[in-house]
Amino acid sequence: MERLQKVIASSGYCSRRKAEELILAGKVSVNGKMVNTLGNKVSYSDTIIINGVTLKLEPKEYVLLYKPRGVVSSAQDDKGRKTVVDIVESKNRLYPVGRLDYDTSGAIILTNDGELTNLLIHPSYEVEKVYLVKIDDIVNPSLVKSLSNGVMIDGKKTGRAKVKIKKIDKKKKSSLIELTIYEGRNHQVKKMFEAIGYKVSKLKREKFAGLTLDGLKSGEYRHLTVKEVKRLYAFK
Ligand code: URA
Repeated sequence: MERLQKVIASSGYCSRRKAEELILAGKVSVNGKMVNTLGNKVSYSDTIIINGVTLKLEPKEYVLLYKPRGVVSSAQDDKGRKTVVDIVESKNRLYPVGRLDYDTSGAIILTNDGELTNLLIHPSYEVEKVYLVKIDDIVNPSLVKSLSNGVMIDGKKTGRAKVKIKKIDKKKKSSLIELTIYEGRNHQVKKMFEAIGYKVSKLKREKFAGLTLDGLKSGEYRHLTVKEVKRLYAFK
């Protein structure tokens, strides 16, 4: 049993606060009875109707996937390409939290918890993302380090970032850089490197919100523990 406003929010219908407003305004019914006070508990088998809309309630599921390259990170693809949702077997309708490019690999969460999704993708929570970036070139270390001061992409300066040069291979003419960012703008890492004159040749997200790929191979996934889910909620 969970509080009514929490169950409404986790269905993705609206935020917890908005759910409280709707309850108090008398817009919510549980199993045919109007509920207009806070503090009621419900289960996922109850029928909750808001403004005539029946909520689709499913037990919450949280998966960490090591996304392979060559897979789309949306629930559906209009070009018929394989998606992250195709990889994860589930009875529930899971969807990815944020996006990784088709040619990017790495850590991505799939869930049917709309509330947690909204929290993790909201810019104000500044969720940490750690990327490993390969450049087919010998990079200039001080230029790359300057990424931590922010660069202009799409007319707006990027926020705080941490940069670690992991390897510069002079023979193979390639470099590996670890970049940590706290935003999730479209193609952000590729654009940040583009802004300093380098093309990213390979990109992998090694860590998302503290979750690493430890124990997973490309294409594998695991369910998050209760403790991990609680920790993700603690971003609030
Ligand atoms: N930044 C990118 O450029 N691509 C990704 O997939 C993720 C971050």
